[in-house]
Amino acid sequence: MPKTMLANATINAIYLADPTHLTELCDELGDVSHVIENLVFSPMVKQDICFARDVWLEPQIVTFNSISEAVKLLRAAGKYWYLYPLENIRRSRLIEAELRNLPLLTHTFPLQEAIPAIGCFTLLDKNTLVYSAKRWKKAPLGDFQFIEDKTNPPNRAYLKLWEALSLGDIYPSAGDTALDLGASPGGWTYVMQTLGTKITAVDKAPLEPRIAKLPNVTFLQQSAFALNPADLKHPVDWVLCDVACYPERTYELIMQWINSGNAKHLIFTIKLQGKTDIATLEKFKKIPGGRVIHLFYNKHEATFFYPEPTQLQIG
Ligand SMILES: C[S@@+](CC[C@H](N)C(=O)[O-])C[C@H]1O[C@@H](n2cnc3c(N)ncnc32)[C@H](O)[C@@H]1O
Repeated sequence: MPKTMLANATINAIYLADPTHLTELCDELGDVSHVIENLVFSPMVKQDICFARDVWLEPQIVTFNSISEAVKLLRAAGKYWYLYPLENIRRSRLIEAELRNLPLLTHTFPLQEAIPAIGCFTLLDKNTLVYSAKRWKKAPLGDFQFIEDKTNPPNRAYLKLWEALSLGDIYPSAGDTALDLGASPGGWTYVMQTLGTKITAVDKAPLEPRIAKLPNVTFLQQSAFALNPADLKHPVDWVLCDVACYPERTYELIMQWINSGNAKHLIFTIKLQGKTDIATLEKFKKIPGGRVIHLFYNKHEATFFYPEPTQLQIG
């Protein structure tokens, strides 16, 4: 493949796409040199990219002749390397076998240990190595391999919040206050409860009874939109929202919360409708101090963070 095609291109970043949102990633970038499976090569380092699983920030595209030469190049550039298998898989695996073993990549929540810097590499053909020691996300494919809790949460939505908190490296402290809008059946409320926060869950539908009975959980059965953020007597440490509604309503609600000054942290799911409307998403991306990311555990959704956790900044 395309060594020659890439030879004259300026590639400043390689984006790893979620295969279900490859088109969105390309639309967002605009300037794309090449797409090879889920790798998108671009001259642009886009600081506010939403639809990338990960970004390889210092991509090197080099010719090599032997496995030992490739290994030497990688060893000189970094300690740990993750193979993204693309072409010449057997040869790629032989290179991988010569590199240092990776640390454990499965995690409990909250993460117990810091994930060390791990570079990624792949082969474009028998003699072309692509690698980047510097990447955006901690986990090699941009997804935390969580050891799931199949017993306690009422559904799998908890994984979205686990990922959001871990990715941003932002964890509530015990005793923090939290408002969980669109909380039922209670996956996110469950997560916040395990972290020791005092949560008010709000939903038109009931919480699962065993979540409603947990200590420090209060439930308001009403619309999330009936709460006026400006009316709150005390600011809330965490305002979370997973309400199933049109993005425009979510946008209005986010702006109400930010303008009220009554929320220290916001984590909101933006539910995308049908074909992704990049223009709508751009509105969220333009909110000063915010950040929009399509999480690994987001389906046809994206997640809005405010303020932007420093861990999510690119570069
Ligand atoms: C995806 S589910 C939320 C899942 C939840 N985060 C969890 O972890 O279990 C979306 C929720 O939004 C709720 N919802 C829809 N419109 C609402 C509104 N206007 N106010 C409050 N909740 C609403 C639905 O009842 C539903 O429970």
